[in-house]
Parts: sequence; C-alpha cells; structure tokens
Amino acid sequence: MKLNKQEILNALKTITVPGEGQNMVDSGAVTNVVTFADEVIVDITIKNPSLQARKKTEVEILQTIHREVYEKAKIKVNIKVEAPATPQPKNEIKGKPIPGISNIVAVASGKGGVGKSTVTANLAVTLAKMGFKVGVLDADIYGPSIPIMFDVANERPLSVNVDGKSKMKPVENYGVKVLSIGFFTKPDQAVIWRGPMASKALNQMIFDAAWGDLDFLLLDLPPGTGDIHLSIMQALPITGAVVVSTPQNVALADAKKGVAMFQQDSINVPVLGIVENMAYFTPEELPTNKYYIFGQEGAKHLAEDLEVPFLGEVPIVQSIREAGDVGRPAALQTATPIEEAFETITKNVVEQVVYRNENLPETEAIKITTMAGCSAVKKK
Ligand SMILES: Nc1ncnc2c1ncn2[C@@H]1O[C@H](COP(=O)(O)OP(=O)(O)OP(=O)(O)O)[C@@H](O)[C@H]1O
Ligand SMILES: [Mg+2]
Repeated sequence: MKLNKQEILNALKTITVPGEGQNMVDSGAVTNVVTFADEVIVDITIKNPSLQARKKTEVEILQTIHREVYEKAKIKVNIKVEAPATPQPKNEIKGKPIPGISNIVAVASGKGGVGKSTVTANLAVTLAKMGFKVGVLDADIYGPSIPIMFDVANERPLSVNVDGKSKMKPVENYGVKVLSIGFFTKPDQAVIWRGPMASKALNQMIFDAAWGDLDFLLLDLPPGTGDIHLSIMQALPITGAVVVSTPQNVALADAKKGVAMFQQDSINVPVLGIVENMAYFTPEELPTNKYYIFGQEGAKHLAEDLEVPFLGEVPIVQSIREAGDVGRPAALQTATPIEEAFETITKNVVEQVVYRNENLPETEAIKITTMAGCSAVKKK
C-alpha cells in the first residue's frame, strides 16, 4: 500500500479545530504531511495548549485517516503548540508609563488563605512555559510567600546600572522574574508596615526595578480589600484582576467584595474572571472520586451571578501544597491533571487579557489627592 499525500490532506480537510472556524488544512494548522509506503507523518500546530485538546486532535486525525484513507495506515502525529499572540501593550498611561511592561494582572481574593499565591505562582510558570515573558511582584505586606514558592527566599535582588541609574534586579527562577516585599524583611520578624511605607516599598519595586520587557507582570495581592489595594491601584494601571475563591460561602462573600472593589466607578479595573481553588478533593487511590468538601461549584455560580468569566478550577491535591512548600510550583510537573488545570486557567486569562485590550479602554491609575477622596473610594 502506498499512501497518497493528497488523499491524506483531503481527509484532514474534514476536521475542524474548535474555535478556528476553518478545517485544519485551510486554517494552516497542518504544517506538513509526509508519506512513505503505508506510513504517514502529520505535523500540526495548534493554539490550544491543553493536554486534552492535543489528545483530542491527535485521536481525531488517527481515526479520520484510518476511516477515510487506509485502515492500517501507520500514523505519527507531531503536535506543536503555538503561543497565543502577545496581548498588545496597554500600560502607557499619562504620567507614569512602565516601559517594557505590557500587562499587569492583579491576583486578589477577599478572604485570606484561599490560594492566591499558589494560583499566582502556577499561573506564572505556566505563562513562562507558553513562551511569555513573566514577572511576579509579591505585594503581600502581611505574609509574603512568593519567595518560598519560587525557592528564592535566601536570595536578594542585586543592584544593576540601567542608563546611569541604579536599579533593583529581580531574582529569577523557572523563567519567572520575582520581586517580593519579603526580600526586605527578616523572615521571622513581624513587620508592621504603615500604609505610606508599604506604598513606597511597592513603588520602588515597580518603578526602580529592572524588569526588562515583560508580557505579564502578576501582582500577588494581600488578602482583603483595604488601604494597600487602594495604594497599588493608585500607583499602577492594572490591566485586569483575577479573583480567587474557594467554593464555601464565607470565601464567596469576600470574593464578591473583591470583585466589587475592582468594579467600582472610581477604580474601574476589569475583572478578568474568577478561579475556583480547592474545588474538590480526590484521593490518589480513588482518582475518579471527587469530594466536594467546601461545597460544589460555588465560585462558578458566583461568576455567573456577577457576570464575570469563570476561568477554571483547581482541585485540592496534596502535591500542590507540597510543591508550594518546597518552592517548585506544581504546574511545572508535566503531563499531570494539575498541569492541565493550570493550562486551562492560564489560557483563559490570556484570552481575557486579549479581549480586554481589544475592547475596553486603558485603565488609568486612579488619582486620589485628598483623604475625603480616599474614604469615598473605600466606602462605596
Ligand atoms: N489546590 C490546593 N491544593 C492543596 N493545597 C493548596 C491548594 N491551594 C493552596 N493550597 C495550600 O493552602 C495554603 C494557602 O495557600 P496560599 O498561600 O496560596 O493562599 P493565599 O490566598 O495566598 O493566602 P494569604 O491570604 O495568606 O496570602 C498553602 O499552604 C498552599 O500550599
Ligand atoms: Mg498569599
């Protein structure tokens, strides 16, 4: 049996990659087809990075060629994932542009301990794996945990000279640049930051740091909706916010407040969506059993109620906690359900950023000049 390249292409033309509208040959997803005797190699490039999408596409190609061309064809499919187009820069605002930083995404919650830092760290490494240039700024003045999660707690940013000015060089691990308020405090010392001190430190980490070119700067915010959030939004044109919640009512109520904070008129930061963390527990020995310890789909329903996108869910998995503690975010472990969960969430975040940059006006850093203005913003 000698396979014919054109027949293979005709068969592939019956497959449409979800979201592309056209069949995979006309859309350009099929980049090469080589045949020899009864063997065929198909090279394709797809935009969807999830393991599930890759598997589904591969299975569809195998089935179609076997059905339409030759049932005993030996097929090899090489799938390359194309990094989505880099969202266009939107942060050049009047007064304080941040040169080189295209998008600033704040990760917030409302309630503490729901997994903001865990989500931030895993989002960051997943973005880096997809080929984006990523930085994380740990703005949690109460409990900075990013240095531990990236295994850089004992490092300190060096000073570098950029155009005659001395700047702080973020430390780097797993392809992610990191700065944290934790680098400037002693680990076991409780630090009582006064608002202005915290603002000053954060401002320095943003404007006096040599971040270089970044597609995304992720901000790990402290829990709550307080002064520190306000000063960050005063200082920075935030592209959008990701709100993390667990499914239980107490966390949802606080997540709602978090969403409301970003959406109020005087702040107006687009909410990119809600992530449901600790969505369910699955024991390793019973992988099909899901236990909804904190209730089922609470954050998903909240997203529907508030009409903001639902970005995806992360189960409670012991290895996520362990990975955080040893400083190697769990999403770095390839071919696992955790990697897949974070790939879905990350892809959704990127999609929302692209949508937001195409459809909404740029965020301006809010300007609050008087205490009256300040309390008005807080009270609303
Ligand atoms: N999906 C998960 N599965 C297992 N453990 C998790 C998961 N998400 C978070 N954790 C663990 O829960 C704890 C709290 O998570 P994390 O520090 O990310 O929360 P946080 O919202 O940043 O907290 P804080 O409000 O104190 O900043 C950590 O020990 C973390 O490893
Ligand atoms: Mg945290």
